[in-house]
Amino acid sequence: MSARIIDGKALATELRDAVAAETRQLVAAHGLQPGLAVVLVGDNAASKSYVASKSRALVEVGMRPFDFTLPAATSEAELLALIKKLNCDPAVNGILVQLPLPPQIDTSHILASIDPHKDVDGFHPLNAGRLMSGLPALVPCTPIACLKLIRTVHDSLAGIEALMIGRSHIVGSPLSHVLLNENATVTVAHTFTRHLPELCRRAELLCVAIGCAEFIRGDWIKPGATVIDIGIDRVTVDGKSRIVGDVKFSEAVEVAGAITPVPGGVGPMTIVCLLVNTLRAACMQAGLPPPAA
Ligand code: GUN
Repeated sequence: MSARIIDGKALATELRDAVAAETRQLVAAHGLQPGLAVVLVGDNAASKSYVASKSRALVEVGMRPFDFTLPAATSEAELLALIKKLNCDPAVNGILVQLPLPPQIDTSHILASIDPHKDVDGFHPLNAGRLMSGLPALVPCTPIACLKLIRTVHDSLAGIEALMIGRSHIVGSPLSHVLLNENATVTVAHTFTRHLPELCRRAELLCVAIGCAEFIRGDWIKPGATVIDIGIDRVTVDGKSRIVGDVKFSEAVEVAGAITPVPGGVGPMTIVCLLVNTLRAACMQAGLPPPAA
């Protein structure tokens, strides 16, 4: 059997067009052009490339990017001062500080200093707490992207056996709460989890975010399961570099019922979900109803 491939690229294009239409409507009806400040500290090559894709995507849907690139030696006080300014700027509806930050800056101080209403990453403790309490919140982009992809396979997640492998604050932890809020029966596995292959074989929905190339093997997967591969791992084979996921795709595709490819699965949807969150934040700040997208 060969699994259905969940085409994240096509779904992302569809969603991006819907966001662009809602943005045009917001500008026409209320003179409100959503603006997002993207802050990069240092010159990490991967971060630079992610930030460039985010700013490009913003422009494509008619939003306004405010790009800030600060030197690697920036102090915590200097970054806090910039965020304070952005918190007060009415043209800035969202603030994203690209992670990781250099070691002299305490990430938790920075995330907590962002106005929770402008926290399009959903990393502020208030938004994280609201998500965990089942209250409306700005939710991190990757978990929203995963849920939108899962929804193309499952109308309802009530009672489904879900396994989240990975417990990061960016993906694993918030996604486990997103699934719980959908009434899934959620198990979270991490570095210290024992008997991982056996746990995997029970999961009807398997989400993997561990940053370890092709770690999950085909014979760990329950036949017919939905597999969401959140990994973006660079490997070099025969001197050629390519991107793979955390799941061994060639094996998993023969067992799973549906699976996201890497690249072309979760990644493209995540960027569009940042646009959705920016639109949501702009509507919220203007006292308008949340967007349909
Ligand atoms: N670094 C890796 N993923 C993310 C993300 O989703 N948001 C931010 N701000 N930094 C990241």
